[in-house]
Parts: sequence; structure tokens; C-alpha cells
Amino acid sequence: MTDSAQQTPYTTNNVGIPVESDEHSLTIGDTGPILLQDHYLIEKMAQFNRERVPERVVHAKGGGAYGTFRVTNDVSQYTKADLFQPGRSTEMLARFSTVAGEQGSPDTWRDPRGFALKFYTEHGNYDLVGNNTPVFFVRDPQKFQDFIRSQKRRPDNGLRDNDMQWDFWTLSPESAHMVTWLMGDRGVPRTWRHMNGYGSHTYLWVNGGGQRFWIKYHIKTDQGIEFFTQAEADRMAAEDADFHRRDLFDAIKGGNAPTWTMYVQVMPFDDAPDYRFNPFDLTKVWPHGDYPLIEVGRMTLDRNPDDFFVHIEQAAFEPSNLVPGIGPSPDKMLLGRLFSYPDTHRYRIGPNYTQLPPNRAHSSVNSYAKDGPMRYEPANVARPYAPNSYGGPAADTHRFGDVAGWYAAGEMVREAYKLHREDDDWGQAGTMVRKVLDDAARDRLVSNVAGHVSNGVSKPVQERALQYWRNIDKEVGDRIATKVNGG
Ligand code: NDP
Ligand code: HEM
Repeated sequence: MTDSAQQTPYTTNNVGIPVESDEHSLTIGDTGPILLQDHYLIEKMAQFNRERVPERVVHAKGGGAYGTFRVTNDVSQYTKADLFQPGRSTEMLARFSTVAGEQGSPDTWRDPRGFALKFYTEHGNYDLVGNNTPVFFVRDPQKFQDFIRSQKRRPDNGLRDNDMQWDFWTLSPESAHMVTWLMGDRGVPRTWRHMNGYGSHTYLWVNGGGQRFWIKYHIKTDQGIEFFTQAEADRMAAEDADFHRRDLFDAIKGGNAPTWTMYVQVMPFDDAPDYRFNPFDLTKVWPHGDYPLIEVGRMTLDRNPDDFFVHIEQAAFEPSNLVPGIGPSPDKMLLGRLFSYPDTHRYRIGPNYTQLPPNRAHSSVNSYAKDGPMRYEPANVARPYAPNSYGGPAADTHRFGDVAGWYAAGEMVREAYKLHREDDDWGQAGTMVRKVLDDAARDRLVSNVAGHVSNGVSKPVQERALQYWRNIDKEVGDRIATKVNGG
């Protein structure tokens, strides 16, 4: 608010009433008590006390930007999803993050990176909430909470603890592929601009004719992969804890908008039961030789948010935001995640979080939602129940009524899927160590692991860690053991 007599706006309180002072509280005389009627002072203190929302229980430290996704190839034979149709451009938001560290933690700690995308499509928000890794540590949502607790802080001393990490990993051999990834060069990307994203899970795509395909997303950086060595990462953690957040913001501000190209691997629906391993197992990739990458489009991040809290801290990504043409798969982790995210958002930023700017759909919202804390949009409906005869929305079952799913029947069990021949935990990790890494990358892997298991890990857990690595690759395991034992 301004008036003609002055250039700078005058301060008001939160409802626009001009305030008497920015600096001095109202007192009885200059040494007297502060008065309760200094409403503005009390508003300032109270507002300040409520500035924080809880940080995300995981992926607390991050940053992000808005951009556009443009389709570059015709994949309409695989999906009818609006955002992937030829010629389509869709506004989007991306948030990158570390997993275990808190809000103020250094960006360059070794950790997977979150790679969360929200597409504002014609048919509502589509969220692809992935990581910079194509696999994960566990394959059942029962184990996610335990896994995260092993990475976070101990209850007694409030410290992170390598012993907990290796204790959990070595008792959970399905973690081997992801741990190999994490301990390699890609465990500390140089910047967020220099890393790939992956949907990680298998998803279902459905085309206009109702045909179904299993797919995996790969979002490859056009800046090229770059990483920090452990020494460089440690130095950067001390010099600039916000290095990755700053880098993305400065690159976009300087007109150097980063881009990524999205690809999918497509598996015909009927291949799944006879594939040589469980294609829904999140600890495994589909070899490119079996299912090559097919280009889909390019995303460009070119708009910094004008307010970090509003647009990034309040961003609420949820794997359950799936639009027509895209569905989940039988991956149990993904099915568990479909519940978890909206639940945590209701706790962290309130039940009306979909009204907040980064979470609002750009398409029309005709839901029956009403009321609740902090609701400020009027209800969309004249009568708050369905069906109603007063013009309330009605589901378009012709266009949108197909369930993107699969046939399921059987006894209730608590078992891993065991029918496949090659369902071992070590194979793909071993392939990465032997065939993907070159000598220099293998040397760095050995040194990273040896450093990590030598730092605060008890003897029995350390012995198990060395055996774990020998299971992945005998030679690499022996080399780590030699280094740990002072060789
Ligand atoms: P390919 O030789 O076709 O693929 C190997 C892939 O490994 C590359 O395309 C690259 O993925 C990725 N890669 C390269 N360097 C590193 C590194 N330092 N750390 C992590 N990943 C790296 O073989 P396959 O498809 O048969 O896979 C062989 C192994 O490669 C797998 O067991 C898995 O460990 C790893 N891998 C496979 C991926 C897949 O989806 N098939 C994806 C990533 C890794 P990108 O091009 O995505 O950067
Ligand atoms: C964030 C749960 C597995 C990627 C979160 C959050 C929760 C959660 C509660 C915090 C969300 C928020 O407060 O906004 C789970 C559960 C999992 C699981 C229960 C397994 C059962 C995964 C996997 C991936 C992943 C496998 C990647 C493939 C992310 C990302 C974020 C996140 C990127 C941050 C989103 C953002 O930027 O706001 N997860 N997660 N998670 N998770 Fe998961």
C-alpha cells in the first residue's frame, strides 16, 4: 500500500491497518511495562511462532523450479494420457532433494536424490515422484519405515550412525543393488542439473484402444552426468551447505535453463508373468537389451519460484496422482506409497493442501470437497452430494471409467513374489560393479565403502558388510576388506 506523500509503502498489520511503529513496542513511559493492547507486537510474535510447518519426514532438504514438458515423439500407441500426446506442452514443477538429512543439512552428503515432478495436465495433476536411481533399498512397504530410521538419528544420542545403516542393509540383502549405486559415483551428483531421474517403479500405460503396457520412466539429463568425489563432496559440505539449491536457482536466473529428456521402456502386458525375474521388483532394473529406451519428450526448468516456502516447501507430490492413461503396477512399494503421501500432506500442510498454489490443478476441479481447516475456496457444487438433480458434477464413465489395473485373485498371503527364476539379490549389483563401472569408478567405490564401514561400525556388523560385498563381487569385497584391515 502506498500514499502520494511517500515512495515506499507504509507498513500495515495483516489486515491492512497502518501500524504506528516498526521498531518500538507500546509501553507505559520509556521504562514501563509492555501493553497487551499493542496488537501489532502480539501479531508479529504470534505469526513468527507459527512460521514453520513440520519438515517432510524424509526428503526434507530440497529445492525446485517450474518449467514445461514438451512431447517430442509419438507414444500414443502406448498411452492415452493427455500430457504424452503428440505436440502437447504441459506446465510442470520439479523438486529435487536429499533423503535422510534435515532442512539445514548439506546438499552434498552421500544419499539418493529425490526427483519429484508434477505435471499440470488437462485431466488434473500427474505426479511422477521418483529418485535419481532406477532401484530402491527394499521391496515391501513394511520395511520402508525401518529402513529410514536406520538412516536417520539414534534415539539416545541424536546422532546418525553408520552402524545402524550397515546393520539394516546387511540384514536386508535386497538392498545390495541400491547400496552399490549409492556408494558409487552417482551417490553424490555434482549438481541436480547433472543427474538423471527415474520413475523407478513399473507403471501401467493404457492406450486409447484399452491396450495395456508395463513401462519404466528414465529422465536423462541433457547437461551430462557429473559427480563429486567423496573428498570434493566433504569440502563442499563445509563451504556451501546449499550448493545444489543455489546452483539450480542461479542457473535459471542466469538464463541457463536445464533440460532433461524423458524415455520409457515398454514391456508388453503379457510378457510380465514369464519374464525371467519379477518385473515389479523395485530392487531391479529391466536391462536395456531386453527393453530399449523410447523417447517421449523434454522437460525444461526455466522459472524460479518467487517464494520458496509457498511453492517448494508447500509442494505436495503424491504417487497416487495418476491421470487417465496411467496406472500403478503390482509393485508393493508403489501400492504402499499411494496411501502414504496424501496422508502425510494432510498432517504437514493441512487437509486443504490441494488449494495451495503449487498443488492446484490447472484444469477445472469439479470435486465434492467442502469445508475443513483453512478452506478458502467455495465449494464447487450447489448440493454437496452425488448424485443430485441440481446440476452437480457426474462422473463421465464413458471417457474416464476404465480402471487402469490388472486381474488379481488368490489366497491372502504375506510373501514375496517367488515364482521367477532369477530373483536373486546380488546379480544386478554384481553386473553394475563388473560391467558398468570402469577401473577408476571401481577404485572409488572400494574407497567409498571402506571409508564408510570403517567409521563407527561395530566388528560383527563390519564382518557382515564385508561378506555382503563379497556376495556382490568377490574381488571387490576382498579389496574392501583389505583396505578396512589397513592394507
Ligand atoms: P547397459 O549397459 O545397457 O546399461 C548400463 C547403464 O548403467 C547405463 O545406461 C547407465 O544408465 C548406467 N550407469 C553408467 N554408469 C553408472 C554408474 N557409475 N552408476 C550407476 N549407473 C551407471 O546394461 P543393462 O541395462 O543390462 O544394465 C546393467 C546394469 O546397469 C544393471 O544391473 C544396473 O545396475 C545398471 N543400470 C541399468 C539401468 C537400466 O535401466 N537398465 C539404468 C541404470 C543403471 P543411464 O543411461 O540411465 O545413465
Ligand atoms: C517423500 C513415504 C518410497 C521418492 C516422501 C514422504 C513420505 C514418503 C511420507 C514425505 C512427503 C512430504 O512430506 O511431502 C514413502 C514410503 C515409501 C517411499 C512410505 C515406500 C513404501 C519412495 C520411493 C521413491 C520415493 C521408492 C522413489 C522412487 C520420494 C520423493 C520424495 C518423497 C522424491 C520427496 C517429494 C518432494 O520433493 O516433496 N516419501 N516413500 N519414495 N519420496 Fe517417498
